Amino acid sequence: MFSTNPTQTTAWKNLLAHYELIKEESIANRLTDNCSRFENFSLSTEELLFDFSKNNISSKTVDLLTELAKQCGLVGQIEALYSGAILNTSEKRSALHTALRSSHSDEVVVDGENIIPKIHQELHKIKKFSNKLHEGDLLGFTGKPIDTVVNIGVGGSDLGPLMVVESLKPYQVKGISTHFISNVDGSLLSEILGEINPETTLFLVASKTFTTQETMTNAFSARVWLINALGSEVAVNRHFVAMSTQKDKVMEFGVSEDNIFTFWDWVGGRYSLWSSIGLSISLSIGHDNFSQLLAGAKEMDVHFRSQKLETNIPVMMALISIWNVNFNGYGTEAILPYSHDMQYFPMYLQQLGMESNGKTLDRNGKSIAYATSPVIWGECGTNGQHSFYQLIHQGSQKIPCDFIGFAQSQHPVGDHHEKLMANFFAQTEGLMNGKTEALVRQESPLVSEDLVPFKVFKGGVPTNTILMKELSPKNLGALISMYEHKTFVQGAIWNINSFDQWGVELGKNLANTILPELKNEHEISSHDCSTNGLINQYKEFRK
Ligand code: F6P
Repeated sequence: MFSTNPTQTTAWKNLLAHYELIKEESIANRLTDNCSRFENFSLSTEELLFDFSKNNISSKTVDLLTELAKQCGLVGQIEALYSGAILNTSEKRSALHTALRSSHSDEVVVDGENIIPKIHQELHKIKKFSNKLHEGDLLGFTGKPIDTVVNIGVGGSDLGPLMVVESLKPYQVKGISTHFISNVDGSLLSEILGEINPETTLFLVASKTFTTQETMTNAFSARVWLINALGSEVAVNRHFVAMSTQKDKVMEFGVSEDNIFTFWDWVGGRYSLWSSIGLSISLSIGHDNFSQLLAGAKEMDVHFRSQKLETNIPVMMALISIWNVNFNGYGTEAILPYSHDMQYFPMYLQQLGMESNGKTLDRNGKSIAYATSPVIWGECGTNGQHSFYQLIHQGSQKIPCDFIGFAQSQHPVGDHHEKLMANFFAQTEGLMNGKTEALVRQESPLVSEDLVPFKVFKGGVPTNTILMKELSPKNLGALISMYEHKTFVQGAIWNINSFDQWGVELGKNLANTILPELKNEHEISSHDCSTNGLINQYKEFRK
């Protein structure tokens, strides 16, 4: 359907030539030379402003990048996304996370069926269940009201809900505590089981496939723990629900059909928090706020589908990222939310971005000769300033950064928020302007000569700033949707399938081969000498 090699477009060739012309230019000069630059290089919606003026780009750059998008058929690909075309070509599936936040009146047809009614049917089931919990009517095996929710899942069945619940702490329903178990490392399971009451705990087993080793191991261990604590297997059905596409496997585990919240193959794991996988969100912050999250995402969906490329925020985010990766050669991008509650947002975007676009085969399975996803990483501000900002300011590689900030604090205390935001604005200004030797001398006339070079900052580090009015459910929904669509645009232009993840299979399969070898004390020689050596030393150490 879509298979343009971007490097063979005229736009790509023009961008290569254009890059050679402007690569040495100063971002700072662009802003001093043109005071309308901020207006010309920022886009906004009612509660969000995206400022991309602190990148080394000119209007010509934007025109050429937009032309690249057009020559790669982006407009058609966006329409294909919303209409349920088979964009996940290797698994022959649609990618319809946008349908999950649709309105009742919308219509999206998959295999001849309008899927909107069943999406809203599932949302209604989630709403009823959430209300029952919050009204104290969800009773455990011993008749006590449930007040603790434990989500057991990993990857897309953990990171999205975890990030949303943590980001929206002020909206959490009083009296309900929510925990997330993901790693197969027993320390996380033990820690949480050690602090909850089995009589008032509900476990949510979140797994699209219901085969993921970490999730099933944690779920079975939690099941054993509950049965031992409450003395009967009958208790399982009062303290476990599941969210999966695999109803049979769930019932085998021991969850009854009415405790299964379903979703569908055309929902990718890392795009699934809007589906039943988001049950923990609704239970934690209430269904009205979950609906606000969906509404925010829907507003950004409308923006992404309707705005022309030049004024389309996710499109511009993606094009700037491609300018950074494929023309400037930057290998990573940092996500820096100036909000402690959003500390999990970089981690969430790691899966969204790198599991979607960390690939070197195009949609036809042909090897790709150009760069694709950068390494995505980050930390909340201001903490990152005391960790890796030394490298961002004075290191040997330039790192494009997304700074994300909120005008209103969710936790107003003294002048804390003003200090947070002063740092927020100062960092992008400093990264752009740097500090010249002359300024160092002017600021510190008595500075010792040998110290001067250390106090010079080259500047010219490209940054985007996303400034939102407040960290509300609706605005968070819009922000997440914005990054989902950025990720999609990157893949669309890189000509890759952003919706499969074959790269996670090898490790899983090898682990399944090694696991039985660890169940005994025999010396191992079935692998390479390093792996044999490591496993045998492990067996020695664990004695
Ligand atoms: O990391 C591989 C992966 O398949 C992710 O894509 C997915 O979100 C995660 O594992 C969990 O999968 P499941 O929801 O099927 O347990």
